[in-house]
Amino acid sequence: MTDVPEITLNDGHTIPQFGLGVWQAKPEECVDAVAHALKVGYRHIDTAAIYGNEEQVGQAIAESGVPREEVFLTTKLWNDRHRDAPAALEESLARLGVDHVDLYLIHWPVPSQDAYVDAWRSLIELRDAGKATSIGVSNFNEDHLLRVIEETGVVPAVNQIESHPTFQRFDLRQINQAHGIQTEVWSPLGRGEDLENDTVLEIAESVGKTPAQVILRWHIQRGVIVFPKSVTPARIEENFDIWDFELTEGQMKQMIKLNRKNRLGPDPRIFGA
Ligand SMILES: NC(=O)c1ccc[n+]([C@@H]2O[C@H](COP(=O)([O-])OP(=O)(O)OC[C@H]3O[C@@H](n4cnc5c(N)ncnc54)[C@H](OP(=O)(O)O)[C@@H]3O)[C@@H](O)[C@H]2O)c1
Repeated sequence: MTDVPEITLNDGHTIPQFGLGVWQAKPEECVDAVAHALKVGYRHIDTAAIYGNEEQVGQAIAESGVPREEVFLTTKLWNDRHRDAPAALEESLARLGVDHVDLYLIHWPVPSQDAYVDAWRSLIELRDAGKATSIGVSNFNEDHLLRVIEETGVVPAVNQIESHPTFQRFDLRQINQAHGIQTEVWSPLGRGEDLENDTVLEIAESVGKTPAQVILRWHIQRGVIVFPKSVTPARIEENFDIWDFELTEGQMKQMIKLNRKNRLGPDPRIFGA
């Protein structure tokens, strides 16, 4: 079995640096995708209540024969449940068929409803009750992070943000780092868009790997936590086959130069308003 690197969170728990994302994996595709990933060696699955596939993720884990404690499982609190997090997590746990998740995240801050600090207080209680081993946030900008830290004294373990070669997020990553928050990246392949980039294609050719493998290896070497989504068995295998090569310092620098403001998802300052 390949040794995926583990990252230690600020609460002392560890997380596999690589996993499978299941946003837009339809329920009927999701069981097979997660089952295949677990067979290939993935031990980290990233889902969310809003993805509508928690039940299938739980089913695949239960049927896989891989012990529950060997799978790092993340789910997220949706925007309309900020004032109702304990019930929302109970519902997620029931759908997943587990008694706790390894990581529970506030999915978006939704500043207009001004309830994310309340949600964070609930997540702290849920962590203390053992329903979530670690807790964190997603799509939080600096002002959102500072508010939860200042008002509760508890620093999120992770901040899951959009980041890929054409939208790298140096500033927010630095802010996360300054607070001891690990950065998880979503849409790591730019939803497929960044796979067509000339520099990525050129590096792929020179190292004898695919564009997706080059981008995923770059994420691993820059130290972020990454979980590409695929429901295609061959791609699930391809994305996991990144442990036998390294990008040189020069290639890492070439990748850095691809950065521009190519945001693909919503802006957290206004999303959910
Ligand atoms: N916190 C948030 O707000 C948030 C937002 C978005 C995503 N996420 C998380 O991040 C995960 C990943 O992000 P994402 O799903 O947006 O995008 P992504 O992983 O960058 O890209 C997924 C797309 O790329 C395709 N793909 C995967 N591997 C490939 C390969 N080797 N070659 C060619 N195409 C490939 C997939 O197609 P097939 O599936 O058809 O193979 C799918 O269309 C999500 O699943 C979710 O867990 C979180």
